[in-house]
Amino acid sequence: MPTRHFLKDTDFTREEVAQIFGLAARLKRERGTHEKPLAGQTWALIFSKSSTRTRVSFEVGIHELGGNPLFLNRNDIQIGRGESVEDTAKVLSRFVHGLIVRTYEQSEVERLAAAGTIPIVNALTDFLHPCQIYTDAFTLTERWAGNGDRLASLKGRKIAFLGDTACNMAYSWILGAALFGMKISLAGPAQFAPGPEIDAQLAQDGLPKNYHFTTDPYEAVKDADVVYTDVWVSMGKEEETKERIRVMSPYQVTAKLFAAAKPDAYFMHCLPAHAGEEVEQAVLDNPRCIIFDEAENRLHVQKAIMATLAAARPRA
Ligand code: CP
Ligand code: NVA
Repeated sequence: MPTRHFLKDTDFTREEVAQIFGLAARLKRERGTHEKPLAGQTWALIFSKSSTRTRVSFEVGIHELGGNPLFLNRNDIQIGRGESVEDTAKVLSRFVHGLIVRTYEQSEVERLAAAGTIPIVNALTDFLHPCQIYTDAFTLTERWAGNGDRLASLKGRKIAFLGDTACNMAYSWILGAALFGMKISLAGPAQFAPGPEIDAQLAQDGLPKNYHFTTDPYEAVKDADVVYTDVWVSMGKEEETKERIRVMSPYQVTAKLFAAAKPDAYFMHCLPAHAGEEVEQAVLDNPRCIIFDEAENRLHVQKAIMATLAAARPRA
């Protein structure tokens, strides 16, 4: 049985996602009393970018599953001074039981997975943020599934993604929508339309090109069950700030735009949010804004992901 990793949304099958969501719901209900499948283990986090939610939810989650979290800032370890990704993976595989990685290139998490023998979790790259998308989808199932089938409650629902439609969140949502059977419309400036790299990923996963791109934000939100946005300036893109704000301004999620979605639509944002840029404060204050449930659920869903990867790990 090969070591399992979570590098992209499509690394788990629909059946596995259903199990992960079920486990996340139980771990949430039984927080403080549930089993500790990482007992005796250490899971390391290597972060090359800032983080509030991801770092804290993983560190707390590892602790609550009985494990020991070990936070490593990239610049404090030798990889930051040029030690190879492969040697880092081989060395850490001798010490720790899993690795949570936030970095720039998607190829870095793939190389770590290829060279090491421990589960690797993508905690955000420039290309994808799969932990966030699983959490967002789980958060929606809490509202839509009742006591029924969680994945079935997502099927056919429409998500509208506004702003930077070529960022990690947009791309992970394109993959997630394909996996969960959701419709996705993205609206942003033409120069930030989804690029060939996400089409190539869909093709590699055997999935059809499922998304609709438009430069008209009102077209995207029409009949949407979820209106989603992300920062206009992702980490690593700071030098483009002025131009991004200029071209993305028409895609701000205003109260008026949000009102053009379905009357019971939810507003979601992975956070951090910049009120007055990608979203109007009035939308953040709307009772159908569920950003803090999203943030909380990072803990429960990631615990389920780690428990699933730990259970799948081949024993020496
Ligand atoms: N949403 C998210 O990943 O937040 P952080 O950057 O704070 O981890
Ligand atoms: N697109 C954002 C997401 C932050 C969680 C970034 O990469 O900075």
